[in-house]
Amino acid sequence: MSEYKTIKILSIAVSKYKDDLRDFFGQYPKEDIHFEIDDDNLVINLRQLDFPAFKNNAGLVRSNNGLNKVLDTIVENIENIKSYGLKGSKRLYVGYNKERKVKNRKGKEQKRGLYYYAQNHNFSEQNNILPENFVNKIITGNSAQVLKKFPDNSVDLIFTSPPYNFGLDYDNHEDGTDWNDYFDKLFSVFKECIRVLKYGGRIIVNVQPLFSDYIPIHHIISNFFMTEKLIWKGEIVWDKHNWNCKYTAWGSWKSPSNPYLKYTWEFLEIFSKGSLKKQGERENIDITADEFKKLVVAKWDIAPERKMKEYGHPAMFPENLASSAMKLFSYRGDIILDPFNGAGTTTAVAKKLGRNYVGIDISEKYNKKAKKRLSDVQKELTLLNKK
Ligand SMILES: C[S@@+](CC[C@H](N)C(=O)[O-])C[C@H]1O[C@@H](n2cnc3c(N)ncnc32)[C@H](O)[C@@H]1O
Repeated sequence: MSEYKTIKILSIAVSKYKDDLRDFFGQYPKEDIHFEIDDDNLVINLRQLDFPAFKNNAGLVRSNNGLNKVLDTIVENIENIKSYGLKGSKRLYVGYNKERKVKNRKGKEQKRGLYYYAQNHNFSEQNNILPENFVNKIITGNSAQVLKKFPDNSVDLIFTSPPYNFGLDYDNHEDGTDWNDYFDKLFSVFKECIRVLKYGGRIIVNVQPLFSDYIPIHHIISNFFMTEKLIWKGEIVWDKHNWNCKYTAWGSWKSPSNPYLKYTWEFLEIFSKGSLKKQGERENIDITADEFKKLVVAKWDIAPERKMKEYGHPAMFPENLASSAMKLFSYRGDIILDPFNGAGTTTAVAKKLGRNYVGIDISEKYNKKAKKRLSDVQKELTLLNKK
């Protein structure tokens, strides 16, 4: 394999721009990108590049000798390369796809069987329309009861973070009960979630196990969905880069007797109902190529929500987490449900991204916040439309 990806741009009479091009390319490490001139043809040798920055820089060059046209042609040629890897902000054009190949992969897959635990499900493929009175609404109540009023197969994506039984100070419910009781209540909501999810719809549950109780909540929840015959689409590690316990909580300090493990991340467990493929129109996709390449790597580095005090809620996730999940797993115009909507992060992000939403929370106080956030989003959108 060549060390560089080579682009040949033929007959654009580049010789007279040699010095200008040398200046322009001089901004980039030679081992990342450099050019050669061969007669009147331009040869670009490319290994890696922060392409959006390169395009921007090329756009900033002002000249009246035709250099802009040459730079535009270079940008266009690089932009047309659709296969690349990502490393930080740079696109990798060589050496990113040297994976070990398994021979007869499809045959072996068939022999093993795909998602054997979800075969023979009874999910109907007939999707239904969610009645208007639930669309773009914030509803107060226990989701296990509220969702009973929704038709089967009427929601595209459920994005949620349930209470974790950590003993947090929520507005009007106990967060620290016997584990069996906790899972009974949680699963009564999730059962309804599965029913209202469309065929091909996804449910994404953000969960942080209570490590100090030695209860792997993320495994127990995953096992529940698999027993209910949903397909485990995968797991994303949300790395918040903060410690979930004090530096001094070592368990047994400097001894193998019983060291305490520390975590800087939470999980997103993702499940599909009936099919891994989700129907949607091409024009309703809003994820860019770079966002897609970044987000399919299942470790997201996203800072935790810093404004919980301001919103008056003890356990929020950040908007960036919700928008990443929505762009990767839903289409514009889809219906997004959060049955534990809290201060309304999911519903505010859904509105910003042109999705429909329905948020349910047991607390009227949190729902007021959620509604206020939606009206703020509406104001922002109105301002943007005026510009
Ligand atoms: C972890 S918080 C969700 C926070 C939310 N993701 C945010 O960013 O604001 C869980 C929420 O579930 C709500 N809740 C607990 N049990 C509920 C139930 N049975 N039905 C509806 N909401 C419930 C709590 O009031 C709490 O706001």
